[in-house]
Amino acid sequence: MGKRVYNFSAGPSMLPLSVLEQAATEITDYRGCGMSVMEMSHRSPVFDRIFQDAQEKFRRLLNVPDGYKILFLQGGATTQFSAVPLNLIGCTGTADYAVTGRFSDSARKEATKYGNISVAASSKDRGYTYIPTQSQLNLDSEASYFYYCANNTIYGTEWQYIPDTGPVPLVCDMSSDILTRPVDVSRYGIIFAGAQKNMAPAGLTVVVIREDLAGRELPITPLMLNYKTMIDKDSMFNTPPCWCIYILGLVLDWLDEQGGLAGMERTKRKKAQLLYDVIDHSRLFTCAVAPDSRSDMNVVFRTGDAALDAKFVGEASAAGMTNLKGHRSVGGMRASIYNAMPMEGVEKLVDFITAFDRAN
Ligand SMILES: Cc1ncc(COP(=O)(O)O)c(C=O)c1O
Repeated sequence: MGKRVYNFSAGPSMLPLSVLEQAATEITDYRGCGMSVMEMSHRSPVFDRIFQDAQEKFRRLLNVPDGYKILFLQGGATTQFSAVPLNLIGCTGTADYAVTGRFSDSARKEATKYGNISVAASSKDRGYTYIPTQSQLNLDSEASYFYYCANNTIYGTEWQYIPDTGPVPLVCDMSSDILTRPVDVSRYGIIFAGAQKNMAPAGLTVVVIREDLAGRELPITPLMLNYKTMIDKDSMFNTPPCWCIYILGLVLDWLDEQGGLAGMERTKRKKAQLLYDVIDHSRLFTCAVAPDSRSDMNVVFRTGDAALDAKFVGEASAAGMTNLKGHRSVGGMRASIYNAMPMEGVEKLVDFITAFDRAN
């Protein structure tokens, strides 16, 4: 095996090594069928098994109740920014958006093409460094849905509660924290996530949808963005992202071995706590995010001196810890510590931060 680094990329990001190794052993001949998963028909019995297994495992791990469909789609999370309003806003013509970062703001902007969108809360006033509380949400009881992004990948904030919106369906972008903790799916109308952080390679988007919400799409809804099309055809209206679905199945097995989502939640808390502790106790580094809104997935920090930040990123990379540069719109550093980042990677980063703090 070649050299592996601890890759702190915000996405696409690390996959469990055992998953990559298993995929490697099966890459030319999937379990004796004489071809790669990349080469097989999506309608073949072999692939059908892979597909059904991945769906069943996903349902069991996330505890998805009856009455909800799991869709394996393409187009990335961004395509859902359009699909959500196209499918849901026809109900009342209005929707509420909580704007807590770049991606929720993009989703809001996209939705304004299709209806009247209200900003139910925004944390822009303090540079998206906090999550609004329940009492700060300005809710419209007539909204077709309430939209929020559970974890703000760029700003390093994460909702620590599920908004209570009464009968208004909740729509959540969980791209950067899905499968990292148990979630009460029954509280949601739609959960969606791009796969490339915690689930699989880029190219797969998972949508969990309460079935009764489908079938109310605007007449202009493109065929491929219509949830009803995909529910009726079990995500197979056209060719699904077969390879990504296969890898997702392997990742779900790996998650099971880690103690499922309860196990993942314990580990991710420990990993994040280690990092926030060393940052908060350092001389050099600060984290601008309000302590009650800090993300367990994306830990943002900085020295306040752009040259020193660049030195940190460069020296960390030379030491085998890559992609620690913060998002270009924010600067500083960002350590993305999704499920597949091992504890040892975080411990190594903590030691590096401590040493850098002493030396500079
Ligand atoms: C929270 C969140 N939503 C949406 C996106 C966009 O995802 P995609 O590139 O799959 O469209 C990202 C990408 O990083 C993200 O972090």
